[in-house]
Amino acid sequence: MAFVFSDKYVHSFISEADLAAINPEVVAAHKTLCDKSGKGNDFLGWVELPKNYDRDEAAKIKKAAEKICGMCDVLIVIGIGGSYLGARAAIEFIHGNYYNNKKKNTPDIYFVGKDISSAHLQDILDICKDKDICVNVISKSGTTTEPAIAFRVFRDLLIEKYGKEGAAERIFATTDKARGALRKQADTYGYESFVIADDVGGRFSVLSPVGLLPIAVSGVDIEEMLAGAAKAYDDFAEGDVFTNGCLKYAAIRNLLLRAGKSVEILTVNDPALTLTCEWWKQLFGESEGKDGKGLYPSSAVYSTDLHSIGQFIQEGTRVMFETVINVNIEEGITIPTDAEDGDGLNFLAGKSLNFVNQKAHDGTVLAHTDGNVPNLSIELTSRSAFDFGYLVYFFEKACAVSGYTLGVNPFDQPGVEAYKKNMFALLNKPGYTELKEALEARLSTLE
Ligand code: PA5
Repeated sequence: MAFVFSDKYVHSFISEADLAAINPEVVAAHKTLCDKSGKGNDFLGWVELPKNYDRDEAAKIKKAAEKICGMCDVLIVIGIGGSYLGARAAIEFIHGNYYNNKKKNTPDIYFVGKDISSAHLQDILDICKDKDICVNVISKSGTTTEPAIAFRVFRDLLIEKYGKEGAAERIFATTDKARGALRKQADTYGYESFVIADDVGGRFSVLSPVGLLPIAVSGVDIEEMLAGAAKAYDDFAEGDVFTNGCLKYAAIRNLLLRAGKSVEILTVNDPALTLTCEWWKQLFGESEGKDGKGLYPSSAVYSTDLHSIGQFIQEGTRVMFETVINVNIEEGITIPTDAEDGDGLNFLAGKSLNFVNQKAHDGTVLAHTDGNVPNLSIELTSRSAFDFGYLVYFFEKACAVSGYTLGVNPFDQPGVEAYKKNMFALLNKPGYTELKEALEARLSTLE
């Protein structure tokens, strides 16, 4: 198996007795999830997705991916939060950071509608000049401002390039089956569309059409990815914190939080997992950060960040622990010999870069543990579609169980609305007049 979770580095912080003490709570949280009897139980569609995903929909996705590959040089994926992070994470996890620069017979893929930067959007528009493009616009609600703005811009571009009918041929919408502005547009203009089930929330949607279509366009075998998730489903279906790694991870996170470790850093030693970290931060941040509770999810890419925030991790405020994903793939570049040994590195000549990366990993884990930073460990010996699916399901399930153990509803995100309301008011959206006046008055007192 390419995935191994271990708590071997955490024994000096968490004892068997600690685990035994929290075990009943975690087992109860797991039961709540399996029985579908907890808060947010109308958003549990993701639990069974790896097993019961719609085979016809998967075939339709593969067909659409082939069509997109045949029609364009560039696929523009429009979405924010859970509507883009999973797909982008998968593409980088599997293909590495330079998918777009690789020689391939699949289109380049760019992600927009995930920010409101004019310069960023312009950069992508410039890249698209003289290229054939398709668009996959993804929004469950169909009303999110950032992707809606980007979609307006790209829809206009497509119409300018290909005419109204030609544009409609090139737009693929992933949205609610009945509600929202995007569903209405898809039905009105005849865009090929894919359904996000009512019971699958954004950050749990990577194994749904939200993630699967862009991932399939990049040439990944989506069924292999779902098979990986299905294996994790089976592996973590039963047991308690002593026998089920997923429950153990949820338990230790909660124990460490109770011991004052309120920041979890997901660290990776391969930049291909940078976006996996971003996906993970959304998953845990939106699921657990509420009611004044939760661990703050952070991330670092090693060894790069050992030369920046590594100092803080080693010696700064002692509030954090790490979950370390050690990518241990023994292939690739070997360190050359230098006849003059000008840099004194000949002791490494002939060794693989991975050998050095592993020693850096071992040294870092021990140094951070000595610095009072507990380390949990996940070892990955490949970066396949199967592994990505497995990892996703491990984290999704751990997140749900951990959230229930914490006592929150892991499936809502009420706090996200606060900035939206203010932004709409300040933008003069109809219906927000009173709030606009109040906010402007507050802003003027700050001037
Ligand atoms: O996890 C979530 O629910 C959110 O991050 C959403 O995915 C994000 O806000 C985008 O929403 P929508 O797909 O409705 O545009």
